[in-house]
Amino acid sequence: MNLVVIGAQWGDEGKGKIVDYLAREADIVVRYSGGANAGHTVVTDDTTYKLHLVPSGIIYPDKIVVLGIGMVIDPEALFNELNMLEKMDVRWKGRVLISDRAHITLPQYKKIDMEMDAKRKRPIGTTGRGIGVTYAMKAQRDGVRVVDVLDRSLLKELNHEDSSFISGYIDRISEMTIDTSSYLFKNMQKNILFEGAQGVLLDPDLGTYPYVSSGYSSAAGASQGSGIGPKSIDRIIGVCKAYSTRVGNGPFPTEFKKERDGQLEEKIREKGREYGVTTGRPRRCGYLDMVALRYACRTNCIDSLALTHLDVYDEMDELKACVAYEYQGKKVEEFPASLEVLNKATPVLITFKGWKTAIGSCRSFDELPRKARKYIEFIEEFTGTPVDIISVGYERKQTILRREMWIKY
Ligand code: GDP
Ligand code: IMO
Ligand code: MG
Repeated sequence: MNLVVIGAQWGDEGKGKIVDYLAREADIVVRYSGGANAGHTVVTDDTTYKLHLVPSGIIYPDKIVVLGIGMVIDPEALFNELNMLEKMDVRWKGRVLISDRAHITLPQYKKIDMEMDAKRKRPIGTTGRGIGVTYAMKAQRDGVRVVDVLDRSLLKELNHEDSSFISGYIDRISEMTIDTSSYLFKNMQKNILFEGAQGVLLDPDLGTYPYVSSGYSSAAGASQGSGIGPKSIDRIIGVCKAYSTRVGNGPFPTEFKKERDGQLEEKIREKGREYGVTTGRPRRCGYLDMVALRYACRTNCIDSLALTHLDVYDEMDELKACVAYEYQGKKVEEFPASLEVLNKATPVLITFKGWKTAIGSCRSFDELPRKARKYIEFIEEFTGTPVDIISVGYERKQTILRREMWIKY
């Protein structure tokens, strides 16, 4: 049995928390896309783990984690993260496997990434981790794969700085590298959890291009980026917040506006601790965008939604969600490709009464206040997708499971 967990918005939906929660019953956790641009948070009791490259299942002592084919790996960032985990008493040796087909982010790619973004007429606001450059090098067939540095075949073609950088990691990487596709094929009877990075709206094909990342954030990426066929996927879980956030530039039709929404953005940012895990940048915040969420559900065949951050709305008198956009006097009901429409559209909002109750200790759907249940039921109806997991706080235990996920229905 396997599950794919993806972000259904612009990233930072709480994938780390949900993956950690579901990983309890997994044997293997596979990251299939992105690199050190991701920042996935896991909170267990008093400890907060911030992961960038290492799959979120690592916190459990017995899980195998895999850095899959579709990832772009900066060895310096990886070993810094592993050292950090070691210091936090997470014993990872023997449990972290790296795909021989994954691509390597070289030091110069990070520099180029930052220089290119600074020169752009419309900067994307990248994380500066060399992600776009690594994927571009891969696409133009000038990239460096893990296998190419292990057998040292490409080292002589690199400049001195890159070649000596890589040489310092070869022995350590070598011990962890395998053909992960064949490993997963042989272990398909086990419970495998595929962890997405970023989110559908940051996917280069489905997202708000060019304000996207460069790896596959969609569910399809799980098969491509880990080397299993698409028919092997059993269940797709889309993680979404009770509102919307995005970091960096790009269209955001439901973004809170001072003139319309007053101090709402500041309130949500403080209560939801909406600051980027990787760059520390404040996240832009806005209403839940149902047009975008329904699009994410449709384009990814999402079987279950995991709704997070519901507790952030606890003190609100009312909350709103966007059910369509208005552009040049016309109603827009499908998520548009056009940046012009996305930038100029105004959200058509509907209002819900707030529940004005702290829900952080609720452990079942029935324990939630009626008004919170109503909001959830609205999301289910609008997207045609059940909300099977509800997160009412950042801790592992603050999670409501409405339907068993590790069962084929
Ligand atoms: P990811 O990139 O999707 O893994 O998400 P991040 O870790 O970047 O950001 C999510 C943030 O929200 C983290 O600080 C989590 O600890 C926190 N978080 C996750 N779920 C909830 C929730 O239900 N309520 C609240 N208040 N915080 C949450
Ligand atoms: P997780 O996995 C939120 C954003 C960046 C920028 C754009 C391109 O934690 O959800 P990049 O460095 O990837 O070329 O930047 O994508 N971005 C993310 N935003 N969460 C992420 O990952 C992100 N990864 C990249 O802010 O706007
Ligand atoms: Mg994140």
